[in-house]
Amino acid sequence: MSCPVIIDTDTAQDDCVTILWGLLDPAADLRAITMVAGNVSFEQQVANAHLTLNVAGRLGEVPIHAGCRQPMLREWASAEDVHGDGSGGLRMDLSQTALDPEHGVDALLRITAEAPGQVHIVAIGPLTNIATACVLDRGFAKRVRSLSIMGGSINGHGNITAAAEYNIYVDPEAAQIVLTAGFEDLRLLTWDPVTLRDATINRAGYDRLAAIGTPLARFFKAVCDTTLDFNEEVGVDGSTHPDSMTLATLLHPELVQRQAAYRVDVETASPLTRGATVMAWPKFGLEPNATVYQAVDGPGFFALLEDFLRVETAPNLPIAGL
Ligand code: BDR
Ligand code: CA
Repeated sequence: MSCPVIIDTDTAQDDCVTILWGLLDPAADLRAITMVAGNVSFEQQVANAHLTLNVAGRLGEVPIHAGCRQPMLREWASAEDVHGDGSGGLRMDLSQTALDPEHGVDALLRITAEAPGQVHIVAIGPLTNIATACVLDRGFAKRVRSLSIMGGSINGHGNITAAAEYNIYVDPEAAQIVLTAGFEDLRLLTWDPVTLRDATINRAGYDRLAAIGTPLARFFKAVCDTTLDFNEEVGVDGSTHPDSMTLATLLHPELVQRQAAYRVDVETASPLTRGATVMAWPKFGLEPNATVYQAVDGPGFFALLEDFLRVETAPNLPIAGL
């Protein structure tokens, strides 16, 4: 049976791959895409999401809802230095596309109210939309079957500062609201160690995927090339896929090799460690609020990704640059 899921995203690079995965994997029933301020400009993120539906030949089939356009308290922090425009410069005629008129947060509230306890959410951007839904409706968290978050690190390295991972750093107050909102099944896939070790494919492996020859593989290369170049400049050996691995662990739980329950809180006061995820293991006697993945089957994940990139699709509209 397929898994009803909403993807909450700041669509660029691996967010695009995640949406593709949600469209192609028979294990997923992708109900909606909700957009949150993050990686690149909001308009570009929306364009990237339309491009992704288009390359899969599914334009208009999954609603895209615009959500919160800035973090709760902080100035927006862009990741354009990492991702460029997040689409590798691909372009299409956007006049033939439309956003769903319903706000992203309203969509999260409505869809979970229509099917309480059934819908999963995969949050792969800053947590502003999810936190706003929690604040607007105290029953929201309890209606969500599971919330899988890409964010933070297990008391380890950050990627936007020494202490913080980008998604949590951008809106730390939102992340703390979400972590303490009472979700019954909240899972975290972190930057360090899981992304850096298990969700990273080196250039040789990446080139092999990019050369498969389908429109999807060409799209994969276009959206991921800039980030791969950036990664290599800063000493990360390959193309990073934390967002799509977060969705994959929901759809294919057998990929998770090791996990543990932690009490996770977010630093919101210190400028030095803003957005750090402080993870307390059982010794401290605190009630856990999250399941944190410690190891994921990287080769199994990339084998599944390869299967999807081999699928032949016919884009609905021409894509310049593909
Ligand atoms: C996360 O930050 C973003 O730049 C990526 O899309 C991913 O969600 C990694 O830190
Ligand atoms: Ca993301």
